[in-house]
Amino acid sequence: PEVPNVSQAVLGFDSIAGSKTDAVAVATGYSAYVLAPWGEPLNDKASAFKPDGSNTADDQANSMGMHHDGMHFFPLTEAGDDGLLCVNHEYIDQGALHPMGPTVDADGKRSILDEVRKEINAHGVSVVRIKLNDGTWQVIKNDSHNRRFTGVSVMDISGPLAYSAYLETRYSPDGSQARGTLNNCGNGYTPWGTYLTCEENWPGYFVNRGELTEEQQRIGLSTSGTRYGWDHLAGNGEEHLDEFSRFDVTPTAASAAGDYRNEANGHGYIVEIDPYNPNSRAVKRTALGRFRHEGCTFGKLEEGKPVVFYSGHDSRFEYLYKFESTALWSAADADSTNRIATGDKYMNEGTLYVAKFNEDGIGEWLPLTLDSVTTDGKTLADSFDSVAAIILNTAGAADLVGATPMDRPEWASVDPFTGTVYLTLTNNTKRVDSTNPANPRLNNSFGHIIRWDEGSTATEFTWDIFVFGSPVDGDEQTNRSGLTDLNQFASPDGLAFDKRGILWVQTDNGADEVEDYTNDQMLAIVPSSMTDENGQQQVVNADNQAELKRFFVGPNGCEVTGFAITSDYTTVFANIQHPRNWPYSSVATEATPDGMSVRPRAATVVIRKDDGGEVGI
Ligand code: FEO
Ligand code: CA
Ligand code: CA
Ligand code: CA
Repeated sequence: PEVPNVSQAVLGFDSIAGSKTDAVAVATGYSAYVLAPWGEPLNDKASAFKPDGSNTADDQANSMGMHHDGMHFFPLTEAGDDGLLCVNHEYIDQGALHPMGPTVDADGKRSILDEVRKEINAHGVSVVRIKLNDGTWQVIKNDSHNRRFTGVSVMDISGPLAYSAYLETRYSPDGSQARGTLNNCGNGYTPWGTYLTCEENWPGYFVNRGELTEEQQRIGLSTSGTRYGWDHLAGNGEEHLDEFSRFDVTPTAASAAGDYRNEANGHGYIVEIDPYNPNSRAVKRTALGRFRHEGCTFGKLEEGKPVVFYSGHDSRFEYLYKFESTALWSAADADSTNRIATGDKYMNEGTLYVAKFNEDGIGEWLPLTLDSVTTDGKTLADSFDSVAAIILNTAGAADLVGATPMDRPEWASVDPFTGTVYLTLTNNTKRVDSTNPANPRLNNSFGHIIRWDEGSTATEFTWDIFVFGSPVDGDEQTNRSGLTDLNQFASPDGLAFDKRGILWVQTDNGADEVEDYTNDQMLAIVPSSMTDENGQQQVVNADNQAELKRFFVGPNGCEVTGFAITSDYTTVFANIQHPRNWPYSSVATEATPDGMSVRPRAATVVIRKDDGGEVGI
């Protein structure tokens, strides 16, 4: 039989109504339950979760972190009933993490070591073995694969910034390592079986109270304070607490060896983790750029062609990037058992590009290399003295070559049949006076999803806008995609194709007009091709948005994010981040001393069809 060039999948569920409750809602014929919530022990070193918030920093280092986000399932069997779930923990809710919220002294400074260590340990990534036992997924406590990566875990630096002067710190004088991963939002995975975790809003964890460097200014490093005050515990002269001082990157000594000025330079990357090898270290892949990475998605693979990865910089008016490997893809590498070495092969050397979206559905990938021509007719070599310097200030280099400022690029995903790449642009209410073809709405509070096909060269692509978020009662300019009660959405964020060609769309903090109707949600669609049957590009939107169906709605206050699916498609995993009161069931009877009736817990939800069949069709 001929291999179809578009997905033949047909959604087999009816779109559900919006929901605004403290429970999840899912399509008829499906059930959902909680797995691996924040605080669930991964091994016996951790005490069981205590609903009064009194678990220690050490407990937290051996338990699921907080605020689940990006996620991937790595199977251990063909059957898809046993595997490793990798889960990002983006940030923390200090109020829920401690019995009475964060403790501060009379000067408003953080004062309790174990509290701050607990916060650092609640960040990062969890790798956890899960198994389907008697029809129910369970965490396998004490499995040898179970491990945590936190805000303090030692990681290797690879690519252009490895061993550069920018990475020399007191901790790593040769610039080969950095400590910790922070604000791990979206994720990716590789064709060779590793997990990619993306460092998003890391600049807020550091402070420079002196003069910002050009790069720090561009990325928006703080001059006043850090997000959670971890630097407050730097020490009072009696004791030097390096683990906290490092968040204050103000230059104080004659050289980098004497202070922490380079500590933030170890953050802002795509980090590769081999979940199958519990003895492996995580590696920061600097070649893929340094910015607020949302996700990281590889493009359609072709034997003998470069491997490409896409990653968006999630901030208003920031850019979309593509990395193209120097090494050419060999399918045999998919079975490599030395996965980090395979990552070295494909992710350390290559070319980083930034996207420029032109009129009429044409786009260009602009390389960020020393000889790249800038909009004022010079080259990047006039502003940067090395590739390492370009990578360190990726966004600053992208400014110079004329990239297109976007409405907050979040996740990308690739149609497994057509190779078309989809990208969520979550919203941008600060777009007040100028639009561009790819971001055509002023005050874009509802977001949109854009997509593109690579062209015949590495620098050309064609694009269109797939769907615009909107409330159902938006006017023609707002509801451009004709959304209805059954699929209105705002702020698309998580995005994932499964291998059947179903695109899953998740939302984060929809605008009031939609939130008045429903909590954040997960929808699904089988997209039509970007080109028609004659190979002609459809410059206007494809018209299949009516087939966008609401599959799942999260509990009050949450964002729905992170998507994973087993290889037999019978289980979908999604994450509930920052729920307000959920899940009642796990804590309802356990009173908390701070008067909170419920200590909310981010968690993964397992979604299965009641008849055990494939999810979605
Ligand atoms: Fe952490 Fe861009 O969402
Ligand atoms: Ca996100
Ligand atoms: Ca978001
Ligand atoms: Ca979030």
